[in-house]
Amino acid sequence: MGKKVINIKEGKLSEFKLHSIWLRERINGAEFLDQNNLQRLYEPSLLEDNLLINAHTINKNILNVEFSDGTKGSFNIDDLYNEIKNIDVLPQKKIWDIKKDNLKIFDNNQIFENDSELTRMLEIFYQYGYVIIKNTKPEENEVINFAEKLGPVRSTNFGKLFNVVSKPNPNDLAYTALELTSHSDNPYRRPVPGIQLLHCISNESMGGDSSLIDGFSVSNYLKQNEIEFYKILTETNITFKFTDVDTILVDKAKLIELDHNNNFRQIRFSGRLDYAPLLDEKKLDLFYSARKYMFKLCNSDIFKIKFRLSKGMIAMFDNLRLLHGRTKFDPNTGFRHLQGCYIDHDVTEGKLRRLLKS
Ligand SMILES: [Fe+2]
Repeated sequence: MGKKVINIKEGKLSEFKLHSIWLRERINGAEFLDQNNLQRLYEPSLLEDNLLINAHTINKNILNVEFSDGTKGSFNIDDLYNEIKNIDVLPQKKIWDIKKDNLKIFDNNQIFENDSELTRMLEIFYQYGYVIIKNTKPEENEVINFAEKLGPVRSTNFGKLFNVVSKPNPNDLAYTALELTSHSDNPYRRPVPGIQLLHCISNESMGGDSSLIDGFSVSNYLKQNEIEFYKILTETNITFKFTDVDTILVDKAKLIELDHNNNFRQIRFSGRLDYAPLLDEKKLDLFYSARKYMFKLCNSDIFKIKFRLSKGMIAMFDNLRLLHGRTKFDPNTGFRHLQGCYIDHDVTEGKLRRLLKS
């Protein structure tokens, strides 16, 4: 008599009960999956409801199963275990140690020379949320050329490329010479652009130094030290709004967004365009205290890397994790011109998964 679920007595899978359909829809032979794209050649929803496992054996690291519909499957036990336990090939985020960590700098002349350097850059990017790339030509459009070696660029109403220069009547304060306190970009978009690249063509003005701040480290600090602040920041839906003559973009989201396991997912912080809902007095008092404290943390040196983006450098950073800022500059003392673009995490994550698999 077959079984609906099996329990393997020994080894990695012994703590789980494996369901017949769950295993059956993971059969990966050429009869079941297109071998080029690994997509199913059948509808798993049409498998028999009462499908049973008639027999199973284990040979080294392979689980062999015979099903009641006459099919047979062989499964790699490590692959099954990693899937069940959500063990991912992508590196885990690291908390920054500002005193010890070096600036994560890569050379544009080496990144695309071989897969190992590109893999190393993307792994560091996922651990720390940013990389700095040196030796890029200080010429217009080079940031697009660099980004497109990774994958498609995300166009927005700012265009495919945006020029960070001081100009009259700008539609964003980035295009002035003002100080920009720590912020994340475009929290009003759905979805928020995942990764920003900023390329320095010229930085000859007095001032205009750059900073990166780790929102993940800030969030972790709040969780450990100020739980009431952390709770209200992760629970309150804030309205973010962008307005210019062509469009009005609005979204509501938390300043710190958690995933379904209550782990850090995303930060949104842009004090120039966020609005809290009208909560009762006590909650609003708490929210405003929490936002003020978060602002202080995000602008303190504890979580901030300060550096000068000089000619030919690109800062590539995770806009869902990091905040960024710059000191004010004096455009009368020299020309400052950065060009930027956005890409999505599909690009870097997909490339890194492929590199780690190959
Ligand atoms: Fe920005």
